[in-house]
Amino acid sequence: MAATDLERFSNEEKRNLSLGGHVGFDSLPDQLVSKSVTQGFSFNILCVGETGIGKSTLMNTLFNTTFETEEASHYESAVRLRPRTYDLQESNVHLKLTIVDAVGFGDQINKDESYRPIVEYIDTQFENYLQEELKIRRSLFNYHDTRIHVCLYFITPTGHSLKSLDLVTMKKLDSKVNIIPIIAKADTISKSELHKFKIKIMSELVSNGVQIYQFPTDDEAVAEINSVMNAHLPFAVVGSTEEVKVGNKLVRARQYPWGVVQVENESHCDFVKLREMLIRVNMEDLREQTHTRHYELYRRCKLEEMGFKDTDPDSQPFSLQETYETKRKEFLGELQRKEEEMRQMFVNKVKETEAELKEKERELHEKFEHLKRIHQEEKRKVEEKRKELEDEMNAFNRRKVAVETLQSQSLQATSQQALKKDKDKKNFFSLPSAYSITTGRYVN
Ligand code: GTP
Ligand code: MG
Repeated sequence: MAATDLERFSNEEKRNLSLGGHVGFDSLPDQLVSKSVTQGFSFNILCVGETGIGKSTLMNTLFNTTFETEEASHYESAVRLRPRTYDLQESNVHLKLTIVDAVGFGDQINKDESYRPIVEYIDTQFENYLQEELKIRRSLFNYHDTRIHVCLYFITPTGHSLKSLDLVTMKKLDSKVNIIPIIAKADTISKSELHKFKIKIMSELVSNGVQIYQFPTDDEAVAEINSVMNAHLPFAVVGSTEEVKVGNKLVRARQYPWGVVQVENESHCDFVKLREMLIRVNMEDLREQTHTRHYELYRRCKLEEMGFKDTDPDSQPFSLQETYETKRKEFLGELQRKEEEMRQMFVNKVKETEAELKEKERELHEKFEHLKRIHQEEKRKVEEKRKELEDEMNAFNRRKVAVETLQSQSLQATSQQALKKDKDKKNFFSLPSAYSITTGRYVN
């Protein structure tokens, strides 16, 4: 179809036609219901409140069952989010219920960062959903949606006012989740005090700009009840899984020495109002608000952060392809810049190291030359010394030979003299010792 045909077609006025008989598209809502029922629903509740404020008891009372409850200690070093998922069934409707506890909330001495883990948890669930949406092969049909649909904020029944921790936390959460504030353990506060406390809480929330969830009044079927209930906020609730006999009926209540507080008695507390609003009337609106308001806001901010826009500076529609190309170019440019930076850094480093090595080599060479000089000097000195010693030795030897010659000459002279003396003595005193027959003389 040509573009002009399309334009004409869309500009044409819609005409109302009456059908000649039953066609069947009036069953569309039934088809939707049947599809939803087969698919099942998921609902995720976040409970934020001080340790031991009655979160688990209220959940057990709300769903009329016993979820596993594990008491938290007062010694958690930081707030920790603990999700638990349960499969519930009522008639033929399956509900995947996740209850997330903010364990250790309000227990730290420094409470500045108490809200952070809660905000991070909520964002992580949004991020997981966004990642699933951005996948090429999406499976949102059977995706376990863990986004928080409602945050039940448990207010301590002081009868006084909200704590700054409550205000800060609710303020940080109000753009991310539907907050329903509730006054916990409302049986510990008197009726007149409770009335004043509720007014005080609401005025504090308004003056601090905290946006709590308002039950929707745009759907005629629930507009009246919802607007009445909006005026009752925050709900003052009592939780109990204990059954007490009242009249001839067993009811869930808390029994005290002076009387019985019935959980489901509207003149005792707002538990029934909370259950009606949270589960029976507005569960789907809470899910819808989460998707269309809170998740949408997160998605928009995240995509904008990633550089996606709907329109360019001239208010012209911006296509995803263009954004992708721009981002890709930016990314490649950045990559190239980083690569060049790293290359330059590497070259500089090599140069530096080379210069350092050269300097070291020069120093070593100098040292070597110095040592060589010292060595040669030493060698020369030793040689001189050796020569001196050799000369001394030669002189000594010469002297020794001379002395020896002299000694032997004098010895010889002495012995010759002695011999001569002896001979003379002998000649003078001695007689011939033998008589030679041949010579006829005496021989000495
Ligand atoms: P942690 O998970 O350990 O932080 O506690 P929690 O907030 O889940 O509180 P939990 O439901 O375990 O209740 C703590 C105590 O408060 C129990 O002894 C409950 O019986 C009591 N309790 C719970 N709800 C109420 C209530 O509405 N009124 C009164 N007076 N006591 C309650
Ligand atoms: Mg608990």
